[in-house]
Amino acid sequence: VEPSSMFYVDANFIKSFFIKRKKFDHKGTFGHSLLIGGSFGKIGAIVLATKAAIGAGSGLTTAFIPKCGYDILQTSVPEAMVEIDNDLELAYFNYKVNPTVIGLGMGMGTSEKTIEGFYRFLKHNSTPLVIDADAINILSKKPSFLELLPPETILTPHPKELERLIGKWSNDYEKIDLMTDFTEKHNCILVNKGANTLVVYKKEKYFNSTGNPGLAKGGSGDVLTGMITGLLAQKYTALQASILGIYLHGKAADCALEKGISEESLTASDVIQHIDNAFAFF
Ligand code: APR
Ligand code: MG
Repeated sequence: VEPSSMFYVDANFIKSFFIKRKKFDHKGTFGHSLLIGGSFGKIGAIVLATKAAIGAGSGLTTAFIPKCGYDILQTSVPEAMVEIDNDLELAYFNYKVNPTVIGLGMGMGTSEKTIEGFYRFLKHNSTPLVIDADAINILSKKPSFLELLPPETILTPHPKELERLIGKWSNDYEKIDLMTDFTEKHNCILVNKGANTLVVYKKEKYFNSTGNPGLAKGGSGDVLTGMITGLLAQKYTALQASILGIYLHGKAADCALEKGISEESLTASDVIQHIDNAFAFF
């Protein structure tokens, strides 16, 4: 790895590109985020991602989900609009809104119907994408789908999802090389989640400075994907949205601890609640 292309993501780094809101900005300035995901028993994942996109500043936010999640979404996230798939699971991807950006995969499942629907969706889609969880698992099962991704798609795998996507590595250098090759080949951004989340975009590597082990709990990844989606809907580039997303997500978790929440008790909802404190530094 060339040292010149490695960056440490701290508050000063974020300040170099952070966009402040202006008095006459309106919701149209901040884009329309569409979150796609959820399945029976995993509606929580899409609830968290939808709330997080709103918390990160998305102007308008819609969730596209299976029917079983309709009442849950409308009740738990009144700020969001909700559309439902024609099938009982995600299969048709027949949403009607015209989003600025789409974040998908959280709790989505990987059934045959969902895989086929996802393929048809990718064939017709040109909206920028943030891809997580089961949508990454589908890309690992069907690598030919990677050719259908729009330029600078953001993928947010945890270590197991990353391994399924790019193959096994024997040390961190090899992992970074595999990630570099993958982002060059597919013109995408990889966000390798963990204690020191790493963003790789071709020759450039960004290491996060925020976050704590309280985040090691189901749901925190869904919050991250929602936040990156909500940031990408605003005027950030895909690389900036990824970097700002990992920084604010970790910072929100750190702020929650400063308020007295313990690492053990920290929840994904606590992280969402503290996004405001993370923004307060800028
Ligand atoms: N220090 C700092 N941050 C951490 C730490 C740690 N020790 N451990 C985890 N995190 C952060 C990661 O950086 C990431 O942002 O918490 C988040 C965890 O994300 P995921 O591993 O994707 O977990 P999550 O999505 O919440 O899990 C729910 O979704 O991806 C599927 O199969 C996955 O069953 C899982 C489900
Ligand atoms: Mg996850």
